[in-house]
Amino acid sequence: MTESTEARRPANRVLPHELPASLRDAGLDNWIREPLDDAVDRRRRIIMPPAAAVMGTPASAHQGALLAEARHPDTVFMMGDNPALPTMPPCPTLKDFFQLRFSKIARTHLLQSARVAREHGLAEKVIMACLLHDIAIAGLLSANHGYWGAQMVAPYVDEEIAWSIEKHEALRYFPDESVGYRYPDAYIDYFGPDYRPPGYLRREAEAARQHRWYMTSRLVTINDIYSFDPSVVVSYDEFEDVVGRNFRQPREGLGFDGSPVAHMWRTMIWPNNFL
Ligand SMILES: [Fe+2]
Ligand SMILES: [Fe+2]
Repeated sequence: MTESTEARRPANRVLPHELPASLRDAGLDNWIREPLDDAVDRRRRIIMPPAAAVMGTPASAHQGALLAEARHPDTVFMMGDNPALPTMPPCPTLKDFFQLRFSKIARTHLLQSARVAREHGLAEKVIMACLLHDIAIAGLLSANHGYWGAQMVAPYVDEEIAWSIEKHEALRYFPDESVGYRYPDAYIDYFGPDYRPPGYLRREAEAARQHRWYMTSRLVTINDIYSFDPSVVVSYDEFEDVVGRNFRQPREGLGFDGSPVAHMWRTMIWPNNFL
């Protein structure tokens, strides 16, 4: 093969014959990036799925095969920038995460919830909490998302905002007729009509109901919009002013300020790092 032919070879062509059958059969070839022209070098990069993503799935049986793949020549684990993702700036802001990391559907959900809260004339703390309430689903983990999300933002927002984000997860399951909040129809679709939240969530919701900030978190659940018109585009810029007043953006950038949660933001900057 001449050098020019080599250069023309499709950059992201998958070469399944090079993979062991166990990986192909398990669908794990999706975790292997073939050499890309836009990568820093031409080595193949393997993404090891996080334990939390594969535990309890057929993919968990094949982590050894992925480890073995990494020992092949010109093959390394993904570390640092994944060329499939937009590169983050050196000092990332909240806006950068919204625009460069969060999926369209998660971003839209957060922005629409915040817009509805603003249209309802609610306080800025509530609007900010709505804007951030599912940030963990958008960028990190869905299970226990209220708790992960609250921790991620706690150093940068008022304590009441972080609290309301944490508690919205439990309060979502429990109606409050006094403010017209019903069990979400979406949850009947998601979990089935027979789903009952576990005891720890029931206890969390009961305790939250006695708390002085209860209504802040309840308002997050009331403005937690699932049915939205995908043609309606809400720009992050609509909330620059609210974010400016309610989110203490660290000068060094989220992920690099040495805060106790910086690692969570770094995980979203480089979500495919092996370690
Ligand atoms: Fe949520
Ligand atoms: Fe939500």
